[in-house]
Amino acid sequence: MAAPPPTSDSDAILIPKTYSSPKDLDEIINRFKKLRLHSLKVDPVSFSSTYEEESQFPHDKWRSRIQSPLPRTFIAINDTVSKRITNDTTDSSISSPCFGDTSTSLLRLIRSEWVGMATLLGPITFPEETTNEDGAVAKPWDAFIKDQKYKMPGDVSKVEDLKGAHIVYLVVAVFTLPEVRRNGHASRLLKVIIKAIHDDIDIYGAAKASITIQLEPENPRALRLYESLGFSVWEKALPMADPWGNVSHVISLGMTVHSQSD
Ligand SMILES: CC(C)(COP(=O)(O)OP(=O)(O)OC[C@H]1O[C@@H](n2cnc3c(N)ncnc32)[C@H](O)[C@@H]1OP(=O)(O)O)[C@@H](O)C(=O)NCCC(=O)NCCS
Repeated sequence: MAAPPPTSDSDAILIPKTYSSPKDLDEIINRFKKLRLHSLKVDPVSFSSTYEEESQFPHDKWRSRIQSPLPRTFIAINDTVSKRITNDTTDSSISSPCFGDTSTSLLRLIRSEWVGMATLLGPITFPEETTNEDGAVAKPWDAFIKDQKYKMPGDVSKVEDLKGAHIVYLVVAVFTLPEVRRNGHASRLLKVIIKAIHDDIDIYGAAKASITIQLEPENPRALRLYESLGFSVWEKALPMADPWGNVSHVISLGMTVHSQSD
């Protein structure tokens, strides 16, 4: 089936962390969960996690993925309806009668079709030229991987520690619905993520940032996507374990970005 043509109503929106209405929060959690589980179902080989594992997660774990400080999830949307609503009113602070929130981002997320997602973990300070637990020189992705499995860093870096630091990020859970692929949605998500990292550098006064993404060697479309955005291969065969402990090797891609004011 031919993919629908790209639309000017496509966008990539950051899921908010705070909600004035529990109903809005539940709506966002449910849609996030639905899209994430769908991604694990339709593209199981592209992810280190599995549908079987995540479909058992309790509601609180999904809530934490939305509301805990470190992960930021961006959603690719098709947005014709909410744009029409926003354009039809002169009051930019309009609240939705159904959801009771004044946030434009939230309104657009709630009113739109979700067609893709990507999650950014970070910033974490990177102690350059140190060694990790195995005695090897520390790598920019070490903060996010333990015992060959992804782990959420225990502590968020303190704001004062980010100043002048080399900070690191990991991008995970990149996915677009099969029926909308090759319309630039993933590319848009990644560009918004890179922009968010540039903003972090300026806000925190960091020296530079390293962004890494891991992918299976048999994923040439994702490799082309990341290379088209400026990522390059930093590690050809990084050992990672699946939920059952079977180890395979993934490619680790990276990109370093500096302050826009440099
Ligand atoms: C990889 C994936 C996220 C790409 O999403 P998308 O919305 O189709 O990507 P875009 O339309 O933004 O593509 C941007 C560029 O990536 C490259 N690309 C994307 N899909 C490609 C494909 N099937 N074949 C070759 N190149 C491809 C192209 O360079 C493309 O630019 P172009 O269309 O102008 O040639 C999507 O195919 C997907 O969800 N796959 C399954 C999950 C997955 O692999 N996630 C990545 C895990 S690391």
